Amino acid sequence: MQASCGGMELRPALLAWYRRNARDLPWRGTRDPYAILVSEVLLQQTRVEQARGYYARFLAAFPDLNALAQASEEDVLRVWAGAGYYRRARNLHRLAQAVAKTGLPAAPAELEELPGIGPYTAAAVASIAFGKPVAAVDGNVRRVLARLFTVDVPSARWLQETAERLLDRAGPGVWNQALMELGSLVCTPKRPACATCPVARFCQGKGAAERYPLPRARRRTAVSATALVLKGAGGYVLERRDGRVLGGLWGFPLAEGKGAREHLLSRYGLASARPLGTVEHAFTHKKLTIRVYAAPWSGPDEDPNARPLSVLDGKILALAERGPGP
Ligand code: ADE
Repeated sequence: MQASCGGMELRPALLAWYRRNARDLPWRGTRDPYAILVSEVLLQQTRVEQARGYYARFLAAFPDLNALAQASEEDVLRVWAGAGYYRRARNLHRLAQAVAKTGLPAAPAELEELPGIGPYTAAAVASIAFGKPVAAVDGNVRRVLARLFTVDVPSARWLQETAERLLDRAGPGVWNQALMELGSLVCTPKRPACATCPVARFCQGKGAAERYPLPRARRRTAVSATALVLKGAGGYVLERRDGRVLGGLWGFPLAEGKGAREHLLSRYGLASARPLGTVEHAFTHKKLTIRVYAAPWSGPDEDPNARPLSVLDGKILALAERGPGP
């Protein structure tokens, strides 16, 4: 692609816009690779406005790789709690244990070998923290490029090659963030602001931008589940979960599928439980509808504030504390 057109160039146009419009985000004021990594891992699946708070909380609790490496997994999950996608926190913890002594590597290929780091995060950290000339393609950049060149279904390879061709090698970190910022603030998924876009004159999709790229099909399987709220003298019965998604977190006894309720009742030696209500929670690939039942309990229990709870279990807790509706 030509980065120039009619004497005006795309690169300086975008950079000038970015200098005036970049949001003042806490991770933009640092060159600390660890802090930048934490921000990028958070931003993989958490919106910028929410990420601010989690970023501050995480860095206050674990200010450097050593502090994170030495923490217990449970403490790490507790500090992450609420941000969701807890595998990110477990991976960051393992990563810290792997590189606490050496520091983060600067090369994208070495970064990609670390737990939880894919091509995007490796490129973002390498370019922003270490100034390496590598293009970082996230969902925002994908959308901006698909529109600039009117591509319906951009392949990963086309995206990477196109982004590398556009990359400003003199300032790759700023360039990558400028493209992402354009995607967040102007070239938005719905109702993009083409009229005020600094690179509209280079954009083939201008005016019909919403048509590109085509939406990606997202399939979420509907799954029903049952949860049990057993309230004791000092809290609730909570179990430590395992598995890929919520592993390491604590939550109410929960089972999926047919016979889930009977299964849970017999696990706790109960004859019956009364319905409290329903909680819905969507994961990336699955939408859970959870019927929540409650029963009195006099055995051992846990203080829910002292354990890392998932967002899903936070919803069950809120229902338990509020009780059944009127
Ligand atoms: N999304 C992910 N990382 C970002 C960054 N550094 N700036 C803007 N948006 C982002």
